[in-house]
Amino acid sequence: MKSTVLSVAALVGLASTVVQAGQSLDVTHEPIKGLWTADGRPSHPNFLASRWQTSSMPLNFRKRDSSDSKRLGGKLGRLLDKLDNVGQDKKSGLLKILNNYGKEVTSWIENGKLFDASLGIVINKATDNSADNEWLVNVGFGTLPQPLKMVFDTGSSDTWVYSPACCYANNHTFFNPSRSFTYRNRTVVNGEAQAAPKGTPGQDWSYYYGSNTGVYGYVGLDAFTFGLPLLRVDNLPVALATELDGSRASRGMEGIIGLSTGSGTYTDGGWTTPFEAMSSRGLIRQTYLTATLIKADRNTGNGGGGRYTFGEIDNYKLKGGITWTRALSPYLWAGYFDSMSFGGTTLATAPGTDDAPIRFMIDTGSAVFYLPPAFTAQINSKIVGSYKTDDTSVAFPYLVPCNTGLKQYEKQAKNPSFNLKINGTDFTVPKEDYVFYANEPVPASAAGGKTGMCYSAFQDGPDQISIIGLSFIKNNVVVFDQGGKDLSARRIGFGKRTDVDYS
Ligand SMILES: *[C@@H]1O[C@H](CO)[C@@H](O)[C@H](O)[C@H]1NC(C)=O
Ligand SMILES: *[C@@H]1O[C@H](CO)[C@@H](O)[C@H](O)[C@H]1NC(C)=O
Ligand SMILES: *[C@@H]1O[C@H](CO)[C@@H](O)[C@H](O)[C@H]1NC(C)=O
Repeated sequence: MKSTVLSVAALVGLASTVVQAGQSLDVTHEPIKGLWTADGRPSHPNFLASRWQTSSMPLNFRKRDSSDSKRLGGKLGRLLDKLDNVGQDKKSGLLKILNNYGKEVTSWIENGKLFDASLGIVINKATDNSADNEWLVNVGFGTLPQPLKMVFDTGSSDTWVYSPACCYANNHTFFNPSRSFTYRNRTVVNGEAQAAPKGTPGQDWSYYYGSNTGVYGYVGLDAFTFGLPLLRVDNLPVALATELDGSRASRGMEGIIGLSTGSGTYTDGGWTTPFEAMSSRGLIRQTYLTATLIKADRNTGNGGGGRYTFGEIDNYKLKGGITWTRALSPYLWAGYFDSMSFGGTTLATAPGTDDAPIRFMIDTGSAVFYLPPAFTAQINSKIVGSYKTDDTSVAFPYLVPCNTGLKQYEKQAKNPSFNLKINGTDFTVPKEDYVFYANEPVPASAAGGKTGMCYSAFQDGPDQISIIGLSFIKNNVVVFDQGGKDLSARRIGFGKRTDVDYS
């Protein structure tokens, strides 16, 4: 096996099917099945709360101008202001900056923007896990910051890291709270979450992903450091995992940063995400998080990268403008699209009903599209050479030829185009990304005897909502907007990319 992700070891993973030893794929991070109860109601009180049904409400997107930065307190605001005032010629080049602890940090400025190689405002290299399964971002925890490679997950709210006691602490870097001066356990007194005196047990914590796959531990409070120490966010909840279901051993991740719009925790006292805190505390210039994720090499699964940028609409590889749509849930980055189609077939047509819902959520924690099963059946049946396996040793049932999307191959195959229309603008996914893990064919024994079959990027999710994962996100620029300091007008923005061939 070439990939460290597809391993022959028994990696139970988090896929919704029971995965046996042998062929398994530990996928980032699985469909969210638990969002709805059996009778079709949202299972989490914060998901699709009242605002979901009120899309006709006027959208008061607030206006922003460059004076936003002037109002910002804090070192980041001052530094960015300074950058605005120096000549363009001085804006490029390496900087040596002392961080809060007197340690020298190497950063650089490109087109007036500040970058940092070690703890990035703007980083992420898909070096640990290949083939676009997960993009990892260094984030520092505690004081001095202990850097860990984190998955940014816009589909969940809680942030967790491995505790020294947990699981594969020996193989994964973990957060050691006893080495952080600013660490406190969290406890809840009269319904209020607060720092506990030393020796008090941390509040119990659990979070469930995918098919009710749990992670368990206790809650602490500490600082997170993004990018330079300039983007230090104090007093955030962090869960220290002591136990988890299944295994994440094959993955490069050392934890998950919850970046949903707001709290969706199962824990008393609620949860503040770092992006909410940066926004409401005025630590960033504007309340944006831009995701510009770059694909890995299709043949080798290596490379990729791209960046996440807090505080602005990052125009890196952005082609044209941003199309905005209102974020309709106080928990998830969810909204309505106008239509979804594959070739001549319109998949979602019934606004406001659950028959062919037009709801979506943008989930950087999901590798592929997890769509209502009625949609995936139609899409996959139209992909030339597709096959649905009932072999449970593989991660996903829908398979397509690994060659799908290759220029030469498509001359014959002529696969249809996938199109998602959002607020009047069409967004497509290149045919090459109808395949997930194009460099790792599924064994013929699991593919009805066919060779050269790979996973389809369109797999079954919940009936009621389309989960738009990395297969889409890596082909576009996606902007998450917390809606200003009062978090009042959250919205989601979509842009096209200069580096993607959509044909
Ligand atoms: C660490 O990795 C090695 C090799 O992959 C494995 O044999 C060992 O069981 C792992 N240790 C833990 C604690 O998971
Ligand atoms: C925090 O809580 C955990 C779990 O209850 C406990 O093991 C640990 O000793 C506590 N740490 C502190 C600093 O009180
Ligand atoms: C679509 O975009 C327009 C222009 O920005 C905006 O006024 C409108 O509210 C948006 N519609 C939705 C549903 O977000």
